[in-house]
Amino acid sequence: MNNHYDFTDEQKRELEKKDEEIKKLEEERRVSQQKQEDEENEWQAKHSSNNDIVSILESQVQQASILNSKFNSIYLPPISTPNSLSKLQSGVQVITAFDEYVLDKQVGQGGCGRVFLATNTDKESVAIKFLDRNIGKTKLKRFKNEIYFCEHNSHKNIVRVLDHGFWALDKSEYLFCVMPYYEQSLRHKIDSGILPKDAIHIFVGLLEGLEFAHNKGIIHRDIKPENILFAKNSINPVICDFGIAHFLVEDMETIVETKTTERLANFLYSAPEQRIKGGQAVFQSDIFAVGLILNEMFTHSVPQAVEYKRIKDCFPEYGFLDSLVDKIYKNKPQERLFPEKNILSELKMMCEENIKNEEIPLSVFK
Ligand SMILES: Nc1ncnc2c1ncn2[C@@H]1O[C@H](COP(=O)(O)OP(=O)(O)O)[C@@H](O)[C@H]1O
Ligand SMILES: [Mg+2]
Repeated sequence: MNNHYDFTDEQKRELEKKDEEIKKLEEERRVSQQKQEDEENEWQAKHSSNNDIVSILESQVQQASILNSKFNSIYLPPISTPNSLSKLQSGVQVITAFDEYVLDKQVGQGGCGRVFLATNTDKESVAIKFLDRNIGKTKLKRFKNEIYFCEHNSHKNIVRVLDHGFWALDKSEYLFCVMPYYEQSLRHKIDSGILPKDAIHIFVGLLEGLEFAHNKGIIHRDIKPENILFAKNSINPVICDFGIAHFLVEDMETIVETKTTERLANFLYSAPEQRIKGGQAVFQSDIFAVGLILNEMFTHSVPQAVEYKRIKDCFPEYGFLDSLVDKIYKNKPQERLFPEKNILSELKMMCEENIKNEEIPLSVFK
């Protein structure tokens, strides 16, 4: 049987053209890979000494895996970051007008940048978040908003930005901001289990942080356990990552920039009004997310639709909180219990009525 296909001349020409394109892409890929390797080797040669051989190997492994994943597909976007990313590593020093920081290790990676544990000249631990300066105007503007808000506003439940700067090496350019270092996220705490009284304390802190931001006209829009941090052995929550926050005082440009189609907010915690096409986040969208988080801290389950684990199923003596979750877990933002002070006073009343053994120090409520 002849299973040989006869192509028309036109089809043959098309196939040849495709072959040419693929060859060209492969050649581009090879050249660019070689260039990156050369740059990396040059940099390593300049900065290495015998005793940091381990970190060099680590960085090469990391680099190789990034390159691998990049080059597995033939239709590649232009390569811009892997080489520059690997230059941010343990031992690198970054300088601002007033301080110097030495990077220790990477502790976080989000949608836009990388976060490192570092030490300042006083040997204090700090966290430094880096953003590739060539990432695009929109993300730069968001980073600028984030830095500005967190540097100029001080609240115990909002992350502080202590310093910021610019770092460049060869063709890599980064903007960075320096924050206090937090050991744990709420994700870790939920995974290892939170005492009911601590969960209430955390919930109160989150509401206070949001109340502060909301009073300044800022909607966070991405409240989730990964963006809530804690200092070592602390149960005071600190909200971080104002990167996609919606700044009401900002011009329309930013509103257009943060298109809902980008689906930046984590779907699991985003409110219905954020999920719909063309939808806009409102203050109550952040409240929706903390309502889900209250339930999750007790039940390890994030409410979705109508079937979900309720607090009374896990901690019957705290089941009274289910009615609070119900008042927040509403599809329509205007039906959610709001503003924060109303939630706090309702919560306080509930605690006074239901918790007789003084387990919750009422001082958590101002
Ligand atoms: N100040 C900090 N201290 C410790 N870890 C941090 C700090 N800031 C951020 N991180 C870690 O880095 C991750 C990403 O940072 P984040 O600000 O949320 O940026 P992204 O917009 O990329 O999500 C966080 O989820 C957290 O694990
Ligand atoms: Mg984040």
